[in-house]
Amino acid sequence: MSLLIRGASQVATPHGSTARRATELGGLTVIDRAVVRCEGSDVVFIGDAAEHEQRFAPPDEILDASGGCLIPAFVDPHTHPVWAGSREQEFNRRLRGESYMDIARSGGGINATVAATRASDFEDLLATTRSRLDTFLEHGTTTIEAKSGYGLDLATEIRMLEVIAASDRSHPVDLHPTCLAAHEVPLEHRADPEKWIETLIDEIHPSIARRGLAEAVDVFCEEGVFDLDQTRRLLEPAAALGWRIHLHADELTPLGGTELAVEFGALSADHLMCITETGITALAESETIGVLLPGTSFFLRSDYAPGRRMIEAGCAIALATDCNPGSSPTESMPTILALATLQMGLTIEEALTAATLNAAAAIGRASEIGSLEVGKKADIAILAGASYHHLVYHYGVNPIHHVVKNGEVVVRDGHRVADSC
Ligand code: NIG
Ligand code: FE
Repeated sequence: MSLLIRGASQVATPHGSTARRATELGGLTVIDRAVVRCEGSDVVFIGDAAEHEQRFAPPDEILDASGGCLIPAFVDPHTHPVWAGSREQEFNRRLRGESYMDIARSGGGINATVAATRASDFEDLLATTRSRLDTFLEHGTTTIEAKSGYGLDLATEIRMLEVIAASDRSHPVDLHPTCLAAHEVPLEHRADPEKWIETLIDEIHPSIARRGLAEAVDVFCEEGVFDLDQTRRLLEPAAALGWRIHLHADELTPLGGTELAVEFGALSADHLMCITETGITALAESETIGVLLPGTSFFLRSDYAPGRRMIEAGCAIALATDCNPGSSPTESMPTILALATLQMGLTIEEALTAATLNAAAAIGRASEIGSLEVGKKADIAILAGASYHHLVYHYGVNPIHHVVKNGEVVVRDGHRVADSC
């Protein structure tokens, strides 16, 4: 099966198969009026229409970009996409002055979603997750990292990860599963959190690893959740299970989670709203990617991670939605790019690389996805606007017109193509 995308005003993409840093982060390649040919799931040609005609047979299918701009589809390297219920009442309480942590301590927060998720069966969770994945796709995202963490008991953590696996098999969006059973201390363990840590180490993490349901582990390293020492005790045996590491680090307080992530050679240290100068230096000298989540700062009305400062210090940074029902209920990477530019001081070029190539690096996939290049996967988002600037400039609406995943058109004119998989 071959697909030719023609009629684009430009192709804009970062290049390479490793994360970009410093001045390279903003180094997009822009090719005017290029056509893109996909064969099977790969990109095989990007360039001049006349040259394409000489070198290739007529394609099986043509997609007209109608003067729009082609970019690599987004990779979202930090999401919590499986949950039941919703927490709009908490949102209203926060608007009236209560803090995220106050609400969590009074029985709301993550534990409220845990109660709803435990009460929800596999089919219901799968249906709501798939509908969220449609929204991800319509906003230009074709690959996500997907965390468990609203089960906080073995059966429900397994159910969430099985929903992630079933979604990966049955939906165009690719999902990379992470076990986040260490997301909170469940209510039944509040009297003895150490017992919960033992349960995670001795039972839950090994059982999930045995089933092959996760490729990475994550811990919410935060004051009042898991402190630095507890996080270290959780990560050591989890790494020995063969899991790669993502870490919720320095989100609400500067605990030093970034330095811990670096020490463990984590794929990513995430959130980083409260990262210190020591943390920035450690991250800059490491291979760990700093995943920044400006949607969470926006939604919690808290400080933004020092994105500009981190780029200048030499950190490799990526962007993600943090899609979850409490602190960032959005699937939209274009919204995240708007916040990263307007609130964290990134240029549009830097934000685009951070949301594609560097985001792919944050899940260990930068050699296959994250840029629009011959030999990489044909995962492409097509903007309605004539240049990549429209991603951010035309804010507050969905700028994505069509989406191609593995060489197949999965979103056309803004809507999910019904039978695409
Ligand atoms: O990444 N920080 C911890 N976890 C999520 C919030 C989860 C929730 O509130 O349901 C986050 O912000
Ligand atoms: Fe998160």
